[in-house]
Amino acid sequence: MKTVLITGCSSGFGLETARHFLERDWKVIATMRKPDHNLLPASDNLIVLSLDVDDPDSIRAAVEAAGPIDALVNNAGIGLLGVFETTAMATVREIFGTNTFGTMAMIQAVLPQFRERKAGVIVNVTSSVTLAPLPLLSAYTASKSAITAFTQSLALELRQFNIRLAVIEPGRSPTRFSENARPRMEGGIPDAYAGYAESVFAGMGTPAGTAASDVAEAVWYAVTDPASPMRIPAGADAIAMAEAR
Ligand SMILES: NC(=O)c1ccc[n+]([C@@H]2O[C@H](COP(=O)([O-])OP(=O)(O)OC[C@H]3O[C@@H](n4cnc5c(N)ncnc54)[C@H](OP(=O)(O)O)[C@@H]3O)[C@@H](O)[C@H]2O)c1
Repeated sequence: MKTVLITGCSSGFGLETARHFLERDWKVIATMRKPDHNLLPASDNLIVLSLDVDDPDSIRAAVEAAGPIDALVNNAGIGLLGVFETTAMATVREIFGTNTFGTMAMIQAVLPQFRERKAGVIVNVTSSVTLAPLPLLSAYTASKSAITAFTQSLALELRQFNIRLAVIEPGRSPTRFSENARPRMEGGIPDAYAGYAESVFAGMGTPAGTAASDVAEAVWYAVTDPASPMRIPAGADAIAMAEAR
């Protein structure tokens, strides 16, 4: 039986991806900042562990408790919508801390076992914002685009150890993501940008094009099919953006 460790399983894409792998008879290490054993169906193949990707001790403890794994899915992430000029650098660092450095730290933590076994798959969940720029998302986009470039380079040096890497690029989805991002957006839109921001928000009224199941299926494809491409858009809106590139 193969084992996958997934970060950020308390909601949204991570929760759905954990469910998807469990239903296909994988052993799933579902990790969360605050473990909740009632979110996923009870199963002998499920282990719920505490993991905060911002915390090196938490990463070390979770990877040790998980034991050998075949795949790592870096899904945990936080959002930020706002004007860059007035975004505190502490907030920019917070975004990079989780989305970029958290992903990198998780990869470093599992690489020794993947390298020794000469096997392993690493899937990083980025975003369709890396496919075409959208306004008021500059810091978030930078944190995710860094992971795309990082993954492409790292894949070259890890190929010799039969370690594969992929990025999943989900489109917009009605998960808890926007709600979770709200505390970081306090301070609002400065007056000089108000008119522009209003027009951007008006254009965001279209229904979200990506379901959590689209992301789970894309992660499954990346993990289980060695012929899958390195960059995989997930959701109709993301696929359309990738095709338009
Ligand atoms: N929803 C979208 O429109 C969208 C589009 C493109 C890409 N994405 C990306 O997809 C991924 C999943 O997002 P989602 O839509 O499923 O949103 P979500 O429901 O807010 O899920 C995000 C998950 O990440 C976890 N998390 C946040 N900070 C963490 C940390 N320091 N350590 C460990 N876990 C942490 C959250 O845990 P807590 O419950 O503890 O906060 C939650 O489980 C993110 O990387 C996001 O950037 C989302």
